[in-house]
Amino acid sequence: MPAMCLGLEGTAHSFGAGIVSADGQVHSNIWDMLSPDEGGIHPREASRHHTEIGPSIIKKAIDQAGITPDDIDLVAFSRGPGLGPCLRTTATMARTIALKLSVPLIGVNHCVAHIEIGCLDSGFTNPVTVYVSGGNTQIIAFAGNRFRTFGETLDIAIGNMLDTFGRSIHMPFPAGPIVEREAKSGHKYHSLPYSVKGMDLSYSGMLTAARKLISEGVSVADTCFSIQETAFGMLAEIAERALAHTKKKELLLTGGVAKNARLTEILQGVATRHGIRFHRVTPSLAGDQGAMIAWTGILQFQAGDRLNTADSHIWPKWRTDEQDIVWRTQQ
Ligand code: ATP
Ligand code: FE2
Repeated sequence: MPAMCLGLEGTAHSFGAGIVSADGQVHSNIWDMLSPDEGGIHPREASRHHTEIGPSIIKKAIDQAGITPDDIDLVAFSRGPGLGPCLRTTATMARTIALKLSVPLIGVNHCVAHIEIGCLDSGFTNPVTVYVSGGNTQIIAFAGNRFRTFGETLDIAIGNMLDTFGRSIHMPFPAGPIVEREAKSGHKYHSLPYSVKGMDLSYSGMLTAARKLISEGVSVADTCFSIQETAFGMLAEIAERALAHTKKKELLLTGGVAKNARLTEILQGVATRHGIRFHRVTPSLAGDQGAMIAWTGILQFQAGDRLNTADSHIWPKWRTDEQDIVWRTQQ
């Protein structure tokens, strides 16, 4: 049987456990999300949620994979970036299980895991990646042994912008899917700040301007439509520039906001114009979940990476481009 990895994800408000084998099969992927009331996520409340829900999620993942704990060969956990209390809780669970089962422990970069699960899902080997989520907005490509950030938001992430806009008009959290639904019935475009600066972009001006549209009586549907067209257009421009610059032949869309069908359509258009392949990660693998941590854990393990329990402290500010990607060869 190929090696089985249990992956634990708990960087923010979601806790997830996934089981993936070394042949790339996802055997289970279970998660639960804390839905905050008004005012966003409180790190301590989220970590309490992980503590309470963690053991039952892990048990469900093991049961659904049809294995027993003794079949687990490796435990991987999200080491960063993320909220300190949430990362600490997740790391503690991972260390405990690894010690109890006497199996290796691997610390995984959450952002790198969003890219690697996308590569597993698509079969891509060397894409330009558009990574869009609640906390991140980055255009990434592999160069010089690392996933380099070619462009990113200078202020808030796209998912955060959608969620904050939604909260201001009393949409439940997360607002991203509701903005998408509303936008489908919008048709009149209202101008919003299109803020691309070189390879970087900014969404905070758009958030203020979108709220102003609502206060001026523009419908929610038209405002959501205008937000999507502007925000996604900005991403397309940078992705296009990254493709022209790197000459890569694959474009990958990953992260929670990748669930958006309109964004998928726009980036598909970019890829078609450039005559390259495009893949949007399967929606169940787009947001935060344990399978992406498990799969990246396997890649690191196969490259010889091991983490001593004593050195396994969390890295809340671990950037995508701060890790040597030892399992990939230079491209
Ligand atoms: P990260 O730590 O990588 O920043 P995260 O904690 O934000 O991740 P994800 O599950 O990757 O978690 O992404 C969640 C975000 O995805 C939320 O901001 C949510 O509004 C957004 N989202 C989910 N579905 C959609 C959708 N259909 N359209 C737009 N945004 C969406
Ligand atoms: Fe994420």
